[in-house]
Amino acid sequence: MKIKKAVIPVAGLGTRFLPYTKVIPKEMLPIWDIPAIQFIVEEALDSGIESILFVTSKEKYSIEDYFDRNFYLEYFLNKNRYIEKIKDLNKIPQNFKIYSVRQKEARGLGDAILHAEDFIAEDYFAVFLPDDLIFSKKPVMKQMKEVLEIYNKPVLGVERVPWKMVDAYGIIKPRIIKNRIFEILDMVEKPQIDKAFSNLGVVGRYVLPKNIFNYIKQTKPGVKGEIQITDSLKVLLKEQGILAYEFEGIRCDTGNKYDYLLAILTYASMHKELKKKLKKDIKNIFKIRL
Ligand code: G1P
Repeated sequence: MKIKKAVIPVAGLGTRFLPYTKVIPKEMLPIWDIPAIQFIVEEALDSGIESILFVTSKEKYSIEDYFDRNFYLEYFLNKNRYIEKIKDLNKIPQNFKIYSVRQKEARGLGDAILHAEDFIAEDYFAVFLPDDLIFSKKPVMKQMKEVLEIYNKPVLGVERVPWKMVDAYGIIKPRIIKNRIFEILDMVEKPQIDKAFSNLGVVGRYVLPKNIFNYIKQTKPGVKGEIQITDSLKVLLKEQGILAYEFEGIRCDTGNKYDYLLAILTYASMHKELKKKLKKDIKNIFKIRL
């Protein structure tokens, strides 16, 4: 089963990163020298995705501009023979089609995904939530596609989250099928700890069927007064079945400041030279007294 299209909701205001996000999308925050969104796009392309729809909003032009060509800059770098800089520029993935649609109001993730209805004709499509950056040997969406190929059912990426954090996630009630693969018996969005079925939280990777749009249209506003994709999935799973897949990889949440810092450090720790230097410098940083 081929999944060729992906939807990436990027309409959020990024209020946790104000004042930075007053003019710059949080998805453009750098992880070392690469904007977070590039990691997500690379994961999608490495998983076989060919077209990406950004569900976007005001002040988010820079995301599309980033993946477009900039002829003046290319001309300038070429003219001055900035070979290394040209190499850096060429690292930005270009081999995919970019689409975008505006979500005019922040009405929730379900509503954002519904904006992709005209874009999707295939049986299944992928959704990536850009806050969830996942470092892995095999791209997580590729891992999930393999599950889809075997079971021909929607698949949600899940991870064991700390119990005290279950109220930040969609939480599933699992029945294990085999190693890392679960049938979802029920799910709930951001439950209090005593209402959580488990600590298996949905993180930002979904393989959804195209009839999800019908379910979203019937979903009433839920937690935070928003249309929650979890509520639509809760109905879908009873009628059609949904699987959860505990992916292999290290997830970093770039959606809040502290975890964003950890994401940069995690990235650094995976690069030999950076790691060596950082290990040395970090000891000194903690000795600083002003
Ligand atoms: C969203 C989803 C939630 C999921 C989470 C993963 O919540 O609604 O079900 O567990 O992403 O990051 P948000 O983080 O946008 O509040």
